[in-house]
Amino acid sequence: MTAVPVVMDVDTGIDDAFALMFAVRHPGIDLRAVTCVAGNAPVDQVVANTCYVLDAAGAGEVPVGRGATAPLLAPTPDTGHVHGLDGLGGFSRPSDRRTCPLPALDLLRHELLAAVGNGEPVTVVPTGPLTNIALLLRAHPEVAAGIERIVFMGGSASVGNVTAVAEFNVFHDPEAAAIMLAAARDLDIPVTMYGLDVFEQVRVTDSDAATLSGRLDPGCQLAGALIVARARGEESASIGDAGTLCAIVDPDGLGTERCAVRVELGHGFARAQTIVDRRRGPRGDDHHSHGTVPTQVDVALTVDARGYAGLWLGALTG
Ligand code: BDR
Ligand code: CA
Repeated sequence: MTAVPVVMDVDTGIDDAFALMFAVRHPGIDLRAVTCVAGNAPVDQVVANTCYVLDAAGAGEVPVGRGATAPLLAPTPDTGHVHGLDGLGGFSRPSDRRTCPLPALDLLRHELLAAVGNGEPVTVVPTGPLTNIALLLRAHPEVAAGIERIVFMGGSASVGNVTAVAEFNVFHDPEAAAIMLAAARDLDIPVTMYGLDVFEQVRVTDSDAATLSGRLDPGCQLAGALIVARARGEESASIGDAGTLCAIVDPDGLGTERCAVRVELGHGFARAQTIVDRRRGPRGDDHHSHGTVPTQVDVALTVDARGYAGLWLGALTG
């Protein structure tokens, strides 16, 4: 299997941790760099969590870059109630891993221009608010030639999880999500949206957690503990962000529809909704555009939930 080169942009986060572990352990992913953004926790905590998770997963020298400390415009929401005060359900521990001296944007630029140079475009996987990626694409559009595709966790074609219509990563920085989509449209970068329509469906059970926790492997033990923390007394928990990487290794497991997507930037109850246009045929507003041309996005609407759960567990246990 040829490994797909990947850079991740994370707000680690219990389920970002699941994604990092999979990226480190699955032979189909070549993890080139990880950049951090404020989201589930403040950015310094996100960096600390990321380094600890990479240690536990047994990662080699993957550069970790510190990125945006706050959304572009929106006030920083209080997020401690979602993944605990440390963002990692109380399981974060100090790490000796040295972070990259380059800030996130420079690290991403470096990796993506290297990809242009060697003719091996990289898949960009944001699983947090889109602040870093929006800034990157507008400040350094030349990196587009080094991007194979963006596969991001965010948004929804149906309901939200922060508000009735808004998903957390988009809600945290709606302007960034809108800029990322607009820049991808301008730069011809294909985008896959792995949103709430599939996010909760890929689940692992408390018995999977027990199996992982029983292994003599710090990565599996951490994963087991995090599943229990995420399940919050239920019998199963979603692997969440990790589904983005399963979709890279097994694209056939994801059912997508090419749809026009916009982000609502007003300040009413629909703020941060991803408006996914699933209409077919001629549309009245083709002639009454709302100013911006929407981005065509491959929106994930169905997922092989059992297949992806098995894929994730298999990668962790080797
Ligand atoms: C997203 O929000 C975060 O809490 C998770 O890590 C995931 O990226 C789900 O809305
Ligand atoms: Ca996340």
